[in-house]
Order: sequence, then structure tokens, then C-alpha cells
Amino acid sequence: SALINVMVRAAEKAAKGLVRDFGEVEHLQVSRKGPSDFVSNADLKAERILREELQKARPDFGFLMEESGASKGAEAGTRWIVDPLDGTTNFLHGLPHWAISIGLEKNGEIVAGVVYEPVHDQMFWAEKGAGAFLNHQRLRVSERRNLADSVIATGIPFKGRGDHAGFLGEAEAMMKEVAGIRRFGAASLDLAYVAAGRFDGYWERGLSPWDAAAGVLLVTEAGGFVGEIGGGRNPVFGGSILAANSHLHLPLAKILRSAAEGRKAPAPAGDAKA
Ligand code: IPD
Ligand code: CA
Ligand code: CA
Ligand code: CA
Repeated sequence: SALINVMVRAAEKAAKGLVRDFGEVEHLQVSRKGPSDFVSNADLKAERILREELQKARPDFGFLMEESGASKGAEAGTRWIVDPLDGTTNFLHGLPHWAISIGLEKNGEIVAGVVYEPVHDQMFWAEKGAGAFLNHQRLRVSERRNLADSVIATGIPFKGRGDHAGFLGEAEAMMKEVAGIRRFGAASLDLAYVAAGRFDGYWERGLSPWDAAAGVLLVTEAGGFVGEIGGGRNPVFGGSILAANSHLHLPLAKILRSAAEGRKAPAPAGDAKA
């Protein structure tokens, strides 16, 4: 559609600068937003290009962007939700796994999404009701039903952020059941890979709307299921995500719940040290 074209063109334009910067990461200016939460001038430049391109094409839409925050447009309830560079840590280490993520929100609902991975020229896109695609190919989530055959992606909280012990409990419960766990470092691509049937599922806590907006639509349009880890229905704004094909969603939710219950359970009587 015309809308997807706007998003694709904006992503391609911002990607040109990012690919150039990726070739000489040692020259970037890097600062910290938290103890290990980095941002560089490459993130900021990509965000500026995306804002300009999207604004030119749809002057009335608002924005929610990782580096510059929220701004209202003339058309109330319609805004772009943008992560100009998802996977900054990978990018700054020369690891070729990062993406641009653009979602379009209308009245609280994500209606279009683009996740572009420039290094391998993979353009993932979805429009509500029209399906999910990689370049021109239709996407479907995997059909695996057996946990023991499944590869599940996750995200580990950065230093100084999130509950590391809680994460390890979940990961331990998960690794007892599934074939393998991956931490690739770009949430938007984790979701795109679930949509493409590469990962059978994905869970992460502590995400922001720009990490999730486009990817969540990719998964649902590819026939998958996405919710919050605790069962809530708002994975874009709720801060946690569990995405999977529809066979595995409930079994994965149970594993994560059992990990949480295991941590809350009081120590058995007689266990206290005298
Ligand atoms: C991060 C990545 C990472 C996830 C973090 C995000 P950024 O985004 O998506 O995979 O684990 O929670 O903050 O900061 O590289 O855009
Ligand atoms: Ca960031
Ligand atoms: Ca991100
Ligand atoms: Ca980012």
C-alpha cells in the first residue's frame, strides 16, 4: 500500500547512513543513557532522517521515537512509533545484527509495521489484515508443536537494568524444555524472526514500545500469538512480551509462570540455617 511504501522508503534512506557508519564504528561518538545503555550519533542521525521522511509524506501524524520522545500531530491518535537503530550494542561492536523499526499506531492499535535489516537487505513488513512479508514473500510462523524441537529467542537485561536473577530463573526453566535459546540483541528482529518461522518463540521483559510496535504486528499477521508474559494483552506498551506460534504459546507461558512461582515459594520448613 501507499503507507507501506512511505515506511519502506524512509527505512531505506535512514539505512544508507547507518550502513556507512557501520563501516567505521570506531569514529562514532558514543554516550551512555544508563550504565550499559549506549547511544551514538548514528542512532541520532537515523532518527532525524526517519522523522523528516515520515513527516514529509504524512505531515499530520505524530511521533513516538526512542531518542527524541513523543510529539503530537494534527491528526489525533495517529503516530509513528520509531526505533531508528534497534541493536545499538551490536552495531557499536561491529556485529551485523541490527535494524530500523517503524510502527504506525492508530487509536491505540498498530496498523502497519516495517522492520528493516540493512546488512542482509531484509525488509520485513506487515499491514493489519493484509499479512506479513519478507521482501515479496509471505511469512508464516513455524508449525512446531514440540518444545524439545523448538528454538526460543530472548533478551537479557542490560547491566544496571532489570532483574537478572529473575531472568536466570526463567532461562533455566526454559532450557530444561526447549532445544535451544538465542540472544541475538535486537528485539525487533527477534519478533520478525518469529514471524518468519525461524524462531518458534520469543520472550523478553523491560521492552519499550519502539522495540515492539512493528514486530508485534509482524507476528500476528504471520499467524502467531503475542501477549505480555503474565497474560496481559498489551505487549507493545505493557513492557513484556511472549510471542510464539499458537501451539507453543501456552506451554511457554506455563514455563515462565512456573519459574516465577518457583522464586516466590517460601523455603521448605527446616531449611533455615540454625
Ligand atoms: C535494545 C535491543 C535489545 C533488547 C533491549 C533493547 P536498542 O534496543 O532491542 O535486543 O534486549 O531491551 O533496549 O537500545 O538497541 O534500540
Ligand atoms: Ca537504545
Ligand atoms: Ca530498541
Ligand atoms: Ca534504538
